[in-house]
Amino acid sequence: KKKLTRFDLQTMKDEGRRAVWMTAYDYVTAQLAEEAGMDMLLVGDSLGMAVYGYSGTVPVTMDQCIYHCEAVRRAAPNTFIIGDMPFGAYQVGIEDACRNAVRFHKQAAVDCVKLEGGVRVAPVIKAISDGGMLVMGHIGLTPQSSGAQGGFRAQGRTADSAQAIIDDAHAVYEAGAFSMLVEGVPPEVTKIIRDELPIPIYGIGAGDCDGQVMICSDILGLFQAFTPKFVKRYGDVAGEYRKVFAAYIDEVRQGIFPGDEHVYKMVEGEAAKLAA
Ligand code: KIV
Ligand code: NA
Repeated sequence: KKKLTRFDLQTMKDEGRRAVWMTAYDYVTAQLAEEAGMDMLLVGDSLGMAVYGYSGTVPVTMDQCIYHCEAVRRAAPNTFIIGDMPFGAYQVGIEDACRNAVRFHKQAAVDCVKLEGGVRVAPVIKAISDGGMLVMGHIGLTPQSSGAQGGFRAQGRTADSAQAIIDDAHAVYEAGAFSMLVEGVPPEVTKIIRDELPIPIYGIGAGDCDGQVMICSDILGLFQAFTPKFVKRYGDVAGEYRKVFAAYIDEVRQGIFPGDEHVYKMVEGEAAKLAA
């Protein structure tokens, strides 16, 4: 498998082939995702909820994102990897934002970084892009500003708020983003953005797009705290975990495990010497 480039992703959009991607935070998952042929992997700041148990993404640090990106990169050397800039990594100043984007590239060998916001972060997108790095935008529902947005709720459901998102999309594109993610907006809004902009527009809870992303623990049926409307569960891995844990507990308590086949044998004749 050959790693996709920005040009491959653009060609896929131009030819109407949808890119499929999901989040990954750890080695095992990323390895299986690459093997399955996932087009891209996002080391999302959703790891704050999926891995660390925070109630949102705001507490997530650069170090946490970098360490998980390193693990995913080791597992999936041939997959396009998106490093998600956590809250605080690009709000303090443009220079600070560029330094953090550089760190994602140097330490974790990501293929691009993603950051949330439209008009208000356009100068940051421009500065990082001017530095020779690829930036994916992220507009609509932006979890890092869920406080300002009044919680995790769909955006752009009125004409005025939809227009603001369309303006955000143009600002992100003009600032130099090579693609963008649209989250939690009605498909009518997504369609206008896709019609007006030439770059790949990816979606999560945004209807049909040039590609889709999902949070891996959601599609696996592993994450228990809540399930957004836009999630489709493709399995019940939490159910599998429950079965495995219950069976293991039961067998150890009953003395069934470990069995004879799970122990190491002494070298022939040595046990007798020990007894002597
Ligand atoms: O962090 C994340 O998982 C995201 C999703 C919206 C894909 O940014
Ligand atoms: Na994110």
